[in-house]
Amino acid sequence: MKRRILVTSALPYANGSIHLGHLVEYIQTDIWVRFQKMQGHEVHYVCADDTHGTPIMLRADKEGISPEQLVTRVYREHTRDFAGFHVDFDNYYTTNSPENQAFCEDIYQHLRAKDLIAKRSVEQFYDPVKAMFLPDRYIKGECPNCHSKDQYGDSCEVCGKTYSPTDLIDPYSVVSGAKPERKASEHHFFKLSDRRCEEFLRQFTQSGDRLQPEAANKMKEWLGDPGDNKLADWDISRDAPYFGFPIPGTDNQKFFYVWLDAPVGYFGSFRNYFEKKGRSQKEIDEFLRPGGNTEMMHFIGKDILYFHALFWPAMLEFAGYRTPTKVFAHGFLTVDGQKMSKSRGTFITAESYLQHELNPEWLRYYYTAKLNSTMEDIDLSLDDFVARVNSDLIGKYVNIASRAASFITRLFNGELAYHSDTKPLVEGARASAFLAKEAYDAREFGKAIRQAMEIADRINEGFDKIQPWKLAKDPSKAKELQDVCSRCLHGFQLLTVILAPVLPKVAERVARDFFGMERGFNWNDASELPTRINPYQHLMTRIDPKKITALVEANKESLQPTPQSHSPQRHAEHQEKAVEAVTAPNFITIDDFSKVDLRIARIVSAEHVEGAEKLLKLQLDIGTETRQVFAGIKSAYDPAKLVGRLTVMVANLQPRKMRFGESQGMVLAASGEGPGIFLLSPDDGAQPGMKVK
Ligand code: 2FM
Ligand code: ZN
Repeated sequence: MKRRILVTSALPYANGSIHLGHLVEYIQTDIWVRFQKMQGHEVHYVCADDTHGTPIMLRADKEGISPEQLVTRVYREHTRDFAGFHVDFDNYYTTNSPENQAFCEDIYQHLRAKDLIAKRSVEQFYDPVKAMFLPDRYIKGECPNCHSKDQYGDSCEVCGKTYSPTDLIDPYSVVSGAKPERKASEHHFFKLSDRRCEEFLRQFTQSGDRLQPEAANKMKEWLGDPGDNKLADWDISRDAPYFGFPIPGTDNQKFFYVWLDAPVGYFGSFRNYFEKKGRSQKEIDEFLRPGGNTEMMHFIGKDILYFHALFWPAMLEFAGYRTPTKVFAHGFLTVDGQKMSKSRGTFITAESYLQHELNPEWLRYYYTAKLNSTMEDIDLSLDDFVARVNSDLIGKYVNIASRAASFITRLFNGELAYHSDTKPLVEGARASAFLAKEAYDAREFGKAIRQAMEIADRINEGFDKIQPWKLAKDPSKAKELQDVCSRCLHGFQLLTVILAPVLPKVAERVARDFFGMERGFNWNDASELPTRINPYQHLMTRIDPKKITALVEANKESLQPTPQSHSPQRHAEHQEKAVEAVTAPNFITIDDFSKVDLRIARIVSAEHVEGAEKLLKLQLDIGTETRQVFAGIKSAYDPAKLVGRLTVMVANLQPRKMRFGESQGMVLAASGEGPGIFLLSPDDGAQPGMKVK
C-alpha cells in the first residue's frame, strides 16, 4: 500500500542561527522522509521560518531594520545551513505569508462560530516609553530573595528562585529602561476548558498511538481526570505593536499570538508548495481535511509537546481540519554530557561546523547511531564522534568497497560474477533490509545502524578469513576470488541502501559512479545482485581530531575579542604590544586616539536624500547642538526606524561640502566582507553629548 504522508519539522525562529541542537531534529526528520521515499511512498516534507512575535520585532528594531528585512536575511541563512547538511525539504517557507494568514483567519472564524473564543480583560506589564506590553522576559530587576541585580522577571539566575515579575525590586523594562506599569487590555482566548475540547483531547491523546507512551502519560497528567477541569483557556492574542497577523475585527489593535500562527505555518507551507506544483484544491484538501486517507506526522522537540499535542489538534478539530496522525517528540542535545555552552565552545552553529570543513554526513551518521524513538536526550560526545565515524564509516563500511574493488578492477575488468549459489545471499540481504526497514519506520535509527555495522563486521571478517590476496597469486583460484569479491560488493550495496537515508551524497556516488547506475538507490536494490563496478574512487575521509578541537576553540565566546578579557596570557600579549607601540608605525598612541571627539548622539530625524543611492540625511542631537550628517547606511536602515535611537558620532571631523548639503561629522557603523551595515549603539543609560573614550 502506497502511503501518502505530510511530514513536518518544527519551524525555527527567524531570529537565531541554526545550531547542532536544531540539527538533531531536521536530520532525524530528513532521514525518515528519505527512507519513506525510498520505499516508494508519496511523502511531502515541509517547513518554514517562524517569523512572528515580540523578540523578532524588537531585534529588528534594535538593528534599525524592519522585521521583514530581518526575516528575509535569516531565511537565507537558514536555508543555506539546512542545504549544507543535506536536509532536503520539499518546501521551506515562511509563516509571514498570505497562505498562513488565510488559514489563521479561517481557523479563528470557525472557532468563534463554535463559541470557542472568549474575550476577557488581562492585566499585564506595560512599558510606558515604548508604549507596548512586555512579555515577562523583557522585565528585569533585583531578585527579591538574594538581591542580585538585573534578574529576569520569572526567575533569578544567581539563586535559582522563581517568582513573578511583580515580586522584583525596582523592575525595569529591558527594552527602554522605563519602570513598567500594570495595564489592562482585552485578550482573546481559545476556550480549551470547554467540555468539548477536553473530551476531544482526552480521546486524542490517550488513544490511537498518536503520541509516544511517555508523551501520552505527560498529557494525562496535564489533563487530569474527567471533572478536574485542569485545562485553562489559551490566550491567543497580543496587543499592538506586534509583528504578526491582525485578528479580524480588531482594527489592527490585536494580533494572533505567534504560537497560534506557527503550527498553522505547516499548512501555509504545504498549500504554497502544492499550489506551486499546480495541484488542485481537492488534492490539497486530501492532506488538510478529515477523511483524505493521508497521514500527517510532526517531528518536534519535547519542549513544545504541549502546543502540538493539545492546542494544535484542538484548533484543527474544531475548525474542521484534519488532526495529526502522529507527533514524534525527541530529546535535547547535550555535548560531552552537558548543555551546549558558549563559554565551553560547544554551542556550535551549523555554519561554523561547515566552515571548518567537517563533513555533514559524519554528523548525520553519528546522530542516527544515537537516536531512538523515545524522548531521551542524546549526547554528542566529541571523542566518541571521531572514534565512531572513523571506525564505522571508514574502517568498516568504506573499507569493504576499497579492498574488494581493487581485485575486481585489476583482475576482472570490473565484472562481478557469482560462482556459487546466490539464493542464501539474496535472501539474507532481503531479510536484513526488512529488519532495517522496520527499525527506520519505527524511528529506531540506532538499531538500524547497529544492524548495518554487524553486517559490515561479518563481511570484513569473512574477507579476512578467505585471504583474497593469497587467492590473487594463484591463477587457478581466479573464480573463487571473483566470487568472494562480488559477494563483498553485493554486501556493500546492501549496506549503502540501508545507509542511504543517512548518507545521501555517499549513496548517490556509490549508485552512479561506482555501480554505474542511472539513478539513485531504492529499497529493493538491497537484495539485487550488482553485475559490474567502476574503479573505486575515494568516498569519505577520516575525521582529523584536530579539526574538532579547532571547531570548539572557534566557538568559544571568550575568543571573540572582548575588552575585559583578563587571562594571564592575554595580559602578557597586551604588555608586549605596549612595548612594540613605541616603534611600530601601525600603532597610534593614546594621545592620537583622544584627538577623535566621539560623542553619543540621538538621531532626531532621518530621511532619504533625493538622488543619493546610499545616503541617509540624519539630524543628530549631541546635547549642546544638532548636527547634520550624511551617512552611507541607506541599504541597511529604514529611516523611520532610526528616529529616537542613540548612536556614536565623530563630532570633530572636518565638515564636508556635498552635493546635497554640508556633512558635519560621521556616525560609526560596523561592516564586514558580507552584506550588512550595523550602526553602533551605546548601552542603556548613555545620554546625548556624553564623550566616548
Ligand atoms: O520552539 C520553537 O523553536 C518554535 N519556533 C517552534 C514552532 S513549531 C510550529 F509550531 F510551528
Ligand atoms: Zn536571587
